[in-house]
Amino acid sequence: MLIAPSLLSCDFSQFGNEIKRMDDAGADYMHLDVMDGHFVPNITFGAPVMKYVRRFTEKPFDVHLMISEPLKYIDDFCDAGADIITFHVEADSDITETIAKIKSRGVKAGLVVKPKTEVETVFPYLDQLDMVLIMTVEPGFGGQSFMADMLPKVEKLRSEINSRGLSVLIEADGGIGSQNIALCAKAGVDVAVAGTAVFKADDPAKAIEELKSV
Ligand code: DX5
Ligand code: ZN
Repeated sequence: MLIAPSLLSCDFSQFGNEIKRMDDAGADYMHLDVMDGHFVPNITFGAPVMKYVRRFTEKPFDVHLMISEPLKYIDDFCDAGADIITFHVEADSDITETIAKIKSRGVKAGLVVKPKTEVETVFPYLDQLDMVLIMTVEPGFGGQSFMADMLPKVEKLRSEINSRGLSVLIEADGGIGSQNIALCAKAGVDVAVAGTAVFKADDPAKAIEELKSV
């Protein structure tokens, strides 16, 4: 299981140093939550900010776009140093075109499904994808409770990926901690996003290690 700390829970006055701190703590990816105040009822940061914090780590930037028109901004996020870009299947941009745009920049592409969206909506695109992100909370805010009823979606996706012989990574995001990460692993999650569980821990390195060992 790879651990991707969500920087949404960091001290943004120290954004770069917080990334460095997560790198030192053993994070596998840096999960960056981009919100536009339209697709979700919250605003975070965009590509200009990302560009400045990119130099604080060499670990992959896993960019989760919670924005209405991802296609418009793909170049900006690629220029800012994204390694993986995931966007919502519920967003307004053409899905095939957006995936193609991301991949044309040599960046990995992923689709995200909100809790009320069926996982089957990503199946037509599966062979073009590097990752599928299953939301285990409603997107928009950190610190919410894990929705265990999303795990059957992970299982369905895992068996679809396996039966087609694909190597798409499954990521889960929202409310993940040591109390539920084993359930995620069992269902077939490869990458767990954790905001609160890592940032509110006294020792993030220990928290990440514990998440991996559970
Ligand atoms: C929610 C974000 C998540 C969130 C995770 O919209 O996509 O990445 O910050 O934070 P926790 O682990 O606190 O739920
Ligand atoms: Zn996220």
